[in-house]
Amino acid sequence: AAAEKGGFASFMDKEIHDQPQAVGDTLLGRTDVDGRLMLDDLRIEESVLRSIDKIIVIACGTAAYAGHVAKYAIEHWCRIPVEVELAHEFRYRDPIVTEKTLVVAITQSGETMDTLMAVRHAREQGAKVISIVNTNGSTIPRESDAVLYTHAGPEIAVASTKAFLSQITAAYLLGLYLAQLRGNKFPDEINTLMDELRDMPRKIQTVIERGEYVRATARSMKDASSVLFLGRHVGFPVAMEGALKLKELAYIHAEGFAAGELKHGPIALIDEGQPVFVVVPSPRGRDSLHSKVVSNIQEIRARGARTLVIAEDGDDAVRPYADEIFWVPPVPTLMQPLLATVPLQIFAMALAEAKGLDVDQPRNLAKSVTVE
Ligand code: G6P
Repeated sequence: AAAEKGGFASFMDKEIHDQPQAVGDTLLGRTDVDGRLMLDDLRIEESVLRSIDKIIVIACGTAAYAGHVAKYAIEHWCRIPVEVELAHEFRYRDPIVTEKTLVVAITQSGETMDTLMAVRHAREQGAKVISIVNTNGSTIPRESDAVLYTHAGPEIAVASTKAFLSQITAAYLLGLYLAQLRGNKFPDEINTLMDELRDMPRKIQTVIERGEYVRATARSMKDASSVLFLGRHVGFPVAMEGALKLKELAYIHAEGFAAGELKHGPIALIDEGQPVFVVVPSPRGRDSLHSKVVSNIQEIRARGARTLVIAEDGDDAVRPYADEIFWVPPVPTLMQPLLATVPLQIFAMALAEAKGLDVDQPRNLAKSVTVE
């Protein structure tokens, strides 16, 4: 087993370090000689993909947060409405699904029972299903109209890490492919976005190399009883994923919030010393996202929060309000989840280790939930 872990203390640690390659491999071989994006395994007719009027992403757990991230990108690039729904909620609520609905099922294992049942239900209603799957030969791709494989390699640790980044990457590829097919973006715009994606493995590597500071912070917080996570836009699902990782691995109460919801309740939770992670978008974005998040940090800091801020290199605006800063390389906002998630994974892992817990096999959890 020690050899399988490649010298790392746990599979999770190894899989966190596998992430640059997982993302890189998921991007490999996706363009033809003219640089046009092609998704080989997409056996759905182009005319059908041109006519869809809605996308529903179905998934469970971490894969569902990948879907939430993808929604921001796909709607922005393709101007198709995207809903994201937990597979077990979708199945039991009589969802509106037609021949013009594209269902995207995201699953690492390809075996999650609720996701499989949701796929069957969608197809019975006449929808086309594309699955984004990591495990070759699993059930869900066999029951889908088409499959887009993430090439993360086997993920052994129960808590998902490299599968998550690869799922976001694959869903972005699908978004760009649809934008190309439906003429929402010019070829040079697609090329620019593909170049940004291809540059991500190198930047993910940089974030991993800065992991020791995150680990030290986590060790100093091993007695925390509650940690909150805030984000806006794509930072919101990243916050939810950060909270999920901490629950799964360290058995600490954790919640992710949309930063804009603070005033509608969560701010009542803030008292002296309450740790709060905040995912800060790029200050170079064209909208006011960044300044909104900076004011959210100010608000919680003024009420005593201990602020743990994930921000872009050189973002001086956050310095006065941050107790700790975890820097990530500059990238456009839509690409930031591929970086900002990494410190949150390392934090949860290191805190669980400091508590003496088994990070690969947390209590009560299974890698793949194949029962209802
Ligand atoms: C379990 C795992 C999670 C995973 C979820 C969905 O709960 O512990 O890490 O996100 O199942 O699994 P899937 O294989 O469908 O991605």
